[in-house]
Amino acid sequence: IQVVFIDSMGERRDVSSREGQSLMEAATMAGVPGIDADCGGACACATCQVYVDPKWLSLLPPTSEGEASMLEFAANRQDSSRLACQIRLTADLDGLTVTTPEFQF
Ligand code: FES
Repeated sequence: IQVVFIDSMGERRDVSSREGQSLMEAATMAGVPGIDADCGGACACATCQVYVDPKWLSLLPPTSEGEASMLEFAANRQDSSRLACQIRLTADLDGLTVTTPEFQF
């Protein structure tokens, strides 16, 4: 599964990942900057925030209550914000494109 990370400066990184990995794991394993993931994927830090390309937003599973309450703490939250550790990669998400924030807090 290919996912695309665009950083706050507009630089694009294409990352290959396995089905079942989270978007946060795909990013950290590939050394994508801008994803701090301080809690290691436990939905408890909001530093894995990404802005999802509008085209993809509706294809993602809905935000869980836990994710929604954590997003309240995210810096510069936008309507397209999601927590990358809460997005499981599946074949339908091949090509998923997200932008990473300049700062996570
Ligand atoms: Fe902490 Fe996603 S890694 S909320």
